[in-house]
Amino acid sequence: MESPFKPDILKGRVALVTGGSSGIGFEIARQLGLHGARVGISGRRQDVLDAAVAALQADGITAMGLQGDVRSSAACEGWVAALGAAWGPGLDVLVNCAAGNFLATSEELSVNGFKTVMEIDAVGTFTMSRAAFPALKQSGCRHGASITNISATLQYGATWWQAHASAAKSAVDSLTRSLALEWGEFNVRVNGVAPGPIDGTAGMAKLAPGAKELVQSTIPLRHEMGRKWDIAMVCVFLASPAAAFVSGDTLVVDGANWMWKPQL
Ligand code: HXC
Repeated sequence: MESPFKPDILKGRVALVTGGSSGIGFEIARQLGLHGARVGISGRRQDVLDAAVAALQADGITAMGLQGDVRSSAACEGWVAALGAAWGPGLDVLVNCAAGNFLATSEELSVNGFKTVMEIDAVGTFTMSRAAFPALKQSGCRHGASITNISATLQYGATWWQAHASAAKSAVDSLTRSLALEWGEFNVRVNGVAPGPIDGTAGMAKLAPGAKELVQSTIPLRHEMGRKWDIAMVCVFLASPAAAFVSGDTLVVDGANWMWKPQL
């Protein structure tokens, strides 16, 4: 897919994408890179990370793999330090995309299962943002910096067997607003992107296996699932100077899926 943006709109910028070694996170990292940024991607599995870095480099992108878990503040701090050591002080763009999820009824979901998803999605977003803030603040004071939190739409209303992920993503949306309020004075913008059903992702495979046609029938726009590209383009926009006065918002990118109702 051709980008509607100029290829150098993020030239000279440094970006960190958590969960950037696969799925939506990888495409976000790729598009930030194709628009000029140097990108660090975090992930838990070294082999997957190595393959992702090689794929980004094959696209001409300057990329670095950052192994570890967003549940570890030491890991998050280490990633920011590694980027600073390689590419200079400051961090211009942070995308919190690392997430975990599975379907479970609330009756069967263990307390540890609930906590695990909260810890990856909600606490992980805070842990990473907090670890990155000193570097983001440095960039913010120079030319502006941004955080984009990848959220979801399943917490608007309620979603079957998603009590844990809905609670976690609600917390992420709240955090987006709180950090935007506190960090605006340092020219650090904080926004969210709430993807709807996106084709070819672990989320769709886990949450709606074999239900592609049913899901597509509930997407007013195009009657097709979104593409990873659709999410990545919004992340490029939010990281770019075009979004210089956008902060505290979560953009829904779902083809109007979440508000779908059957025709009466
Ligand atoms: C019920 C489950 C479960 C399942 C794990 N648990 N999988 N419970 N059904 N399918 C429970 C375990 O029993 C355990 O509780 C607790 O969760 C922790 O499990 P671990 O395997 O020890 O955790 P961990 O290795 O850290 O794995 C985390 C994970 C895993 C979330 C469970 O699936 C993961 O890492 N996924 C990452 C990739 C991913 O999920 N991507 C999709 C994101 S989709 P007990 O009590 O037994 O100790 C997404 C989009 C949402 O976020 C929006 C979509 C529209």
